[in-house]
Amino acid sequence: PIVNPLRNLILAAAGSDALRRLVATAPVSRDVVRRFVAGETTAQAVAVAKDLVDSGLTVTLDHLGEDTTDRSDAEASVQAYLELLDGLKSAGLTARVEVSLKLSALGQAFDERLGLDNAARICAAAEQAGTTVTLDMEDHTTTDSTLRVLDELRRSWPTTGGVLQSYLRRTREDARALSGAGSRIRLCKGAYAEPESVAFGTTHGVDLSYVQCADELLAGEGYPMFATHDPRLIEIISEQVKTHKRAQGSYEFQMLHGIRPDEQHRLAALGETVRVYLPYGSEWYGYLMRRMAERPANAALFLRALTSR
Ligand code: FDA
Repeated sequence: PIVNPLRNLILAAAGSDALRRLVATAPVSRDVVRRFVAGETTAQAVAVAKDLVDSGLTVTLDHLGEDTTDRSDAEASVQAYLELLDGLKSAGLTARVEVSLKLSALGQAFDERLGLDNAARICAAAEQAGTTVTLDMEDHTTTDSTLRVLDELRRSWPTTGGVLQSYLRRTREDARALSGAGSRIRLCKGAYAEPESVAFGTTHGVDLSYVQCADELLAGEGYPMFATHDPRLIEIISEQVKTHKRAQGSYEFQMLHGIRPDEQHRLAALGETVRVYLPYGSEWYGYLMRRMAERPANAALFLRALTSR
């Protein structure tokens, strides 16, 4: 209850151009931004991904950008992914590094067909490079559209992954529907400010739903990807995989770059597959704002950095 006003304030700030300019020109400590973001260029993204892979983790790279409103921006996004996939292939990383993308960066909001066609070009390039694509999930107004696009892409590229958010009331049913053989589904709590009509309003409701959805995915034949930093959920999932007699490698854990790195390595040392979500690109501002809205401790870290050199 105390957190919500802060969360809403930060989400509002994420859309403020004036604040974005202020932050971009303020003496932001490079270390703080770098903790969460690989850098602005493809070369930096590939280099950080390589370091993570060398340390025993796997990676999904996300070229930052969302809510594109015109075709040329959407095209620039596609080109960024094509360049990235080239870079990953040249570096020999595609066995352990895949890419995540937001359909809203590819034109989905104004033309679903364009979003699909653009995503298909990236899936084709990923296949050629020897890796896969996961479609991030955005706010609830896009869920049906994104699941339609996922379904379409999976006809040609069956390993294309999707994301479900446990805060949505609909998700348990979606998890059951998407738990079949060959599916790759990332389960997360959900990062957007959603109305109670569609989303659970309490931490308990969201967590309970996460456990129920995890159960649906583990009972199926697909490959679940558990994206959470929550120690309690990680413990519960570790029990659930035993109940479902799931072998290591038939599911994975995922966490954001820079968040709980010790836990990432602890799980990897136990033989678990751990994938780090690694964002890069010039659009880091909106991304960091959302990470802060999720967790006031991240905001404190970032704000401290803003006021010191
Ligand atoms: P939450 O933030 O609820 O924290 C629970 C507990 O975890 C805390 O009480 C604390 O104990 C511990 N914890 C959290 N952060 C910590 C820290 N920095 N240090 C120490 N302890 C900490 N969302 C979305 O809507 N669409 C998407 O496509 C994705 N994709 C995605 C990919 C990956 C790999 C991840 C990890 C997350 C996403 N998300 C997402 C974001 C997700 O929906 C969610 O907002 C965040 O992961 C935060 O929720 P958690 O489950 O991590 O725990």
